[in-house]
Formats: sequence, C-alpha cells, structure tokens
Amino acid sequence: MNNSPIGVYDSGFGGLSVWRELRRALPCESLIYLGDGKNCPYGSLPAESIRMLAETAVRDLIGRGCKMVVVACNTATAAAISHLREVFQSIPIVGLEPAVKPACKMTKSRVVGVIATERSLQGEKFLSTLERYGQGVEVIKAVGRGWVEAVEQNQEHTEQCREMVSAVVEPIIKRGADVIVLGCTHYPFLKDVICEVVGEREVAVIDSGAAVEKRVESLLDEYDLRAEDSNEARYEFVSYADEQYCERLRAKASESLLR
Ligand code: DGL
Repeated sequence: MNNSPIGVYDSGFGGLSVWRELRRALPCESLIYLGDGKNCPYGSLPAESIRMLAETAVRDLIGRGCKMVVVACNTATAAAISHLREVFQSIPIVGLEPAVKPACKMTKSRVVGVIATERSLQGEKFLSTLERYGQGVEVIKAVGRGWVEAVEQNQEHTEQCREMVSAVVEPIIKRGADVIVLGCTHYPFLKDVICEVVGEREVAVIDSGAAVEKRVESLLDEYDLRAEDSNEARYEFVSYADEQYCERLRAKASESLLR
C-alpha cells in the first residue's frame, strides 16, 4: 500500500484525456498532473529536445513524491520512454502508444487510419507494432495539423477547427478505413467533431485512454503501490507556463470529466 500520488505528464492539456480515466477508475489515488504548457506543442520538436523536456518533467514529478509516472503523451513516449526508464529506475514509468494493435484486430475493411503528431508517427515502438500487427492491413498515417493548438486554445467547437478536422478525417474514410486511431492524447478532446465528420458511416474512433488505465492498475498491483481504500485522493495541477494557463488547465480537467 502506498498513498503517494501518481504523476501524469503531457506537453499541455492532452494528458487530461488519460487523467480522467485514472480519476474515474481509481478514486483513492491522488494525482499530480503536470502539463508543460510552456513548450507545447512537442509534435515537431527534435527528439533530443523532447527527451530533455521529459526528463525535467519526470524528475520534477518524482521530486513531488510520485510513486509512478504516466507519460500521457504519445510524442514524449515515442521520443523519450527508454531514456526515462534508464534514468529513473526507482519507479514504474508508463508510456502511451497509438492503439494500432486493437485497430488492426477490429478492422473489417482492412484499412485503418492513424492520426498522430509527426514525431509519434516516426516512433520506433509505433513502427514495430505496425510491422507486427499491421500485416495485411493498409495503415494510413496522417498528422493532425493544428489540432493540438485548437485543443490548447479551447477552439474545438469553432468552424475553423471543424474544417481542419474534416480535411484529415474525410480522405481517410474515403480510402476505406473503418477504424480511426487517435494517436495523440489531445485528440480525444476533438472526438465530438471527428464523429460529426464521420456521420452515419460505420467508422470506429478509438484512443488509448482506457488501455493505459488498465496498465496502471496492473502495475500498481505488481509493485504493491495501491493507495488504501480510506485514502482521500487529492488532485494537483502544475505547469511551466503562467498561472493563467494553470487555471485553464484546472478548468479543462473539470470539463473533461463531463465527457
Ligand atoms: N498530447 C501529446 C501527444 O500525445 C501532444 C503532442 C504535442 O504537444 O504536439 O502526442
């Protein structure tokens, strides 16, 4: 048993789509959410810069007493997860990867779309998963350009955002995809808009939130790290941007629980 918090880290607001799964499924666990904010978006940064940012963030969360850290960012996972596990061996570090495996199992049309950041689509783990499970499946890779910025600016429901989403999603569907993988933790905030674009067509839109939550649970058990049933969970939000950003982060977290 261990009542210390779990750290959840992302470049900005996106990791809240994982945070909300953890909060719902693990009501006794305290969570410290670190949304960098200052250096967001990470998507097109060089891998080395992302590694340095991620190392600073995870060190920070460990310094705040976290018993486990979830890197709730596909981009940071792709660029830095092995490095982080090597540097910080005292706690379990959970990473995120696009849900390619379930998508390739689910598809009937044998065409799958994966939308992620540039850096995530170049990730070694992503490419090896694709190699392993994507045999006989056409996997269409696309970058959600401007999507992270739209979520960061709370612009999800503007016409401009809808057009931006449609420009990526429509060609994927036209090529016959029946599963679309959201390979960036910001993108679930755009799920309503994506589903609007999908309309009546039979296309599943999936992300990794629930799978990561399950992984966290199994690691809590494996390392005997679960909080006591009597623990009153605390939720803290920190950022490297200004106080106003942190306020918006808290508001976005509350909003995420309504979805
Ligand atoms: N949420 C990050 C991810 O999952 C955001 C990427 C970014 O900052 O560009 O990839």
